[in-house]
Amino acid sequence: MARLVPLAPFPPNLYAPDMTQHERLLIIDFGSQVTQLIARRLRELKVYCEIHPYQRVDDAFLAAFKPKAVILSGGPDSVTRDGSPRAPDSLWTAGLPVLGICYGQQTMMQQLGGLVESGHGTAEFGRAMVAPAAARLPLLEGWFEVGPEQVWMSHGDHVSRLAPGFSVYGTSPNAPFAVTADEARRFYAVQFHPEVHHTPKGARLYENFVKMAGFKGDWTMGAYREDAIAAIRKQVGEARVLCALSGGVDSTVAAKLIHEAVGDRLTCVFVDHGLLRLNEGEEVTAMFRDHMNLPVIAVDASEKFLGALEGVSDPEVKRKTIGRLFIEVFEEEARKMGGAQFLAQGTLYPDVIESVSFSGGPSVTIKSHHNVGGLPEKMGMKLVEPLRELFKDEVRALGRELGIPERFIGRHPFPGPGLAIRCPGEITREKLEILRRADAVYIDQIRKHGLYDAIWQAFAAILPMRTVGVMGDGRTYDYAVGLRAVTSVDGMTADFYPYTPEFLGETATRIINEVKGVNRVFYDVTSKPPGTIELE
Ligand code: XMP
Repeated sequence: MARLVPLAPFPPNLYAPDMTQHERLLIIDFGSQVTQLIARRLRELKVYCEIHPYQRVDDAFLAAFKPKAVILSGGPDSVTRDGSPRAPDSLWTAGLPVLGICYGQQTMMQQLGGLVESGHGTAEFGRAMVAPAAARLPLLEGWFEVGPEQVWMSHGDHVSRLAPGFSVYGTSPNAPFAVTADEARRFYAVQFHPEVHHTPKGARLYENFVKMAGFKGDWTMGAYREDAIAAIRKQVGEARVLCALSGGVDSTVAAKLIHEAVGDRLTCVFVDHGLLRLNEGEEVTAMFRDHMNLPVIAVDASEKFLGALEGVSDPEVKRKTIGRLFIEVFEEEARKMGGAQFLAQGTLYPDVIESVSFSGGPSVTIKSHHNVGGLPEKMGMKLVEPLRELFKDEVRALGRELGIPERFIGRHPFPGPGLAIRCPGEITREKLEILRRADAVYIDQIRKHGLYDAIWQAFAAILPMRTVGVMGDGRTYDYAVGLRAVTSVDGMTADFYPYTPEFLGETATRIINEVKGVNRVFYDVTSKPPGTIELE
């Protein structure tokens, strides 16, 4: 069984809205790959919850956090191993409702006097059917209406003897204790994973749990907006804030929120690095000006960026060059406005959750994709990150709450380095122009076929090769374009989008007919992993 590695020191607690006034649920993370999904299910139920790694949650943490209920996640370790992770002892006498999932169920049983065994014949992975036991349980309200329910199992060990006070409420062929509970103490334990969509009634189980725990569901974007504005005012005081707008939904929502909080002490900067899509610069600045009432300085730095990128073909050198130039442009803008003490960023909750690592890798996973990374330290600026508690879909909901137009909220993500990482090898103005036009045709096709919202991200890339073709009566020797479209939840993993052959054929024909310089189109059918979403 995998061993969990110790955590690095707690990251500095950046300013964030004060959540202690909300009803809070604590998720103790034992390292499951799907712990984030538990949080998502709860947030959908308007319950505010936080994920904290088990190493952090001791008796003192529990007392200070003051949760209204606790969920113990799954995890890769075995409770039969000496020194394996445990929930803090005070949890069992705190009078709180507790739901244990998979590893969480097993540690609950073990800690309360039951028995867990591993070994031959106890493992179960994939779909299983859970049948009801004789007794009914409010946690399973809405289950078993037409017979056994499908669930998703993923466990090597199993509970072989229940702890005193527990009864069985659901069984599967390989897990006789699939659902157990001690109703008097409000302890519930399931062997399967209700948070994954392969457990179709899982959301109902969470709904029943939070209802029984007495949550009113006070986590709404309206409430968050007020809390966040108050927190920003408190943090920023009378200082000035610089916000790097990328045209994406996160930085836009962050800017709008900060603007509500500090008004014209916010300055937004949108940099045209010459690597934007067709008409993007004009569209984004017009949108901010006309529909969002946000003060934006648009900086045309395309010559600076494209000049510095001339002859550069290594992907990492490209990224570093772009990052450095972003910093220079922001420094210059900050100087022009007489200095700024704060820098706003649209960092999201998945970027800051401290993941429990069982691979021996870094124990704090923070995405390093921020295009202005490095700026705050260099200029002595502090960060304002008002979206640190939110998932992407919540940011979109907050954006709607703030009146940001729908077509802006639903935009596909666009990376900071822009088209540079969609033009493998050396970047030339000619290639960028071809790429812009091919991408515009492709996105137009997706919109026309009503596919835009079903796809997480789609774009064209220009491949570093020329191929022979025949058009009319003549030979061509032109560029090849690669098309990418993925479905994803958070960009960390992704599947290619399964277009119909008709759609692909029609799109290829349009691109070749409408974009001079292209005579061949490929569709990328690589998932992530092993690929990444962008080509570089
Ligand atoms: P990858 O290519 O890493 O992309 O699978 C995952 C998501 O991140 C975006 N991406 C970036 N965003 N700066 C950004 O702001 C970057 O350097 C960067 N690299 C990738 C990518 O578009 C996808 O949504």
